[in-house]
Amino acid sequence: MEDTTAYEALPESPDAVAASTAEVRAAHDVLAELYAERLADALDRMPVDRAVLGLFCELTRSAGVGDEVGDIGCGTGRLTPFLAAHGLAPRGVDLSPGMIDVARREHPGVPFEVADVRALPFPDASLAGVVCWYSLMYLPPAQRPLAFAELARVVRPGGYLTAGFKAGDDQRRRGGRSAGLGVVFDVWWHSPEEVQQRLTDAEFEVVFRGWRPPQEEYEASEQGFVVARRVGGGAGRAVA
Ligand SMILES: C[S@@+](CC[C@H](N)C(=O)[O-])C[C@H]1O[C@@H](n2cnc3c(N)ncnc32)[C@H](O)[C@@H]1O
Repeated sequence: MEDTTAYEALPESPDAVAASTAEVRAAHDVLAELYAERLADALDRMPVDRAVLGLFCELTRSAGVGDEVGDIGCGTGRLTPFLAAHGLAPRGVDLSPGMIDVARREHPGVPFEVADVRALPFPDASLAGVVCWYSLMYLPPAQRPLAFAELARVVRPGGYLTAGFKAGDDQRRRGGRSAGLGVVFDVWWHSPEEVQQRLTDAEFEVVFRGWRPPQEEYEASEQGFVVARRVGGGAGRAVA
């Protein structure tokens, strides 16, 4: 059971942000092998998640803006086979060097590197899309505009973003304890309305929003999903 703590007034201090980031990174270094063991085939059990990711793949492919997509906060890279099987060329980035080590081992040939969603190692408008699958929920509220602006920067107009997230009340929680590995970190269950507003503010247009009930033992909330198209630049095309 996670503790619930109302999050502090904005903005967070730079020291608090740095400490939170370091805590998330260190925790996921510890969690990497557990993720590899327990989640490698999780997508096989999740038809809704596959449907949302499949929609993202289809829209991205048909947008005509390329096939290279970033799996942002890729963890062990478990989504990269699905993305590749659906016609995209994934590359992954993650805050945690431990996760990236496992991703490289499990998916040779796929490019993976250590990076923060707030400072992506990709040129402007260089990707056809980005996948943020349960990877934005560690960002304190004041850091989120930076992350969404960075995602918008790297996606070509007409390209797509998809996100999966724990849906909820947007209160700060302390997560990680249930893994039993002695790690703990801040996590937020995003309000779907907030996710949509932040995407809109960053010049994405939401084309799908949905949810499903929890199904895995580690899922304590509804799971939220969104697919959004990068607008601006005049190069995109309307969703049919
Ligand atoms: C719950 S895991 C999900 C991993 C993967 N997307 C998946 O679905 O299996 C969250 C991942 O996000 C990464 N992460 C957290 N904060 C991040 C940040 N600011 N930038 C990049 N990755 C981040 C963590 O290191 C972790 O690997």
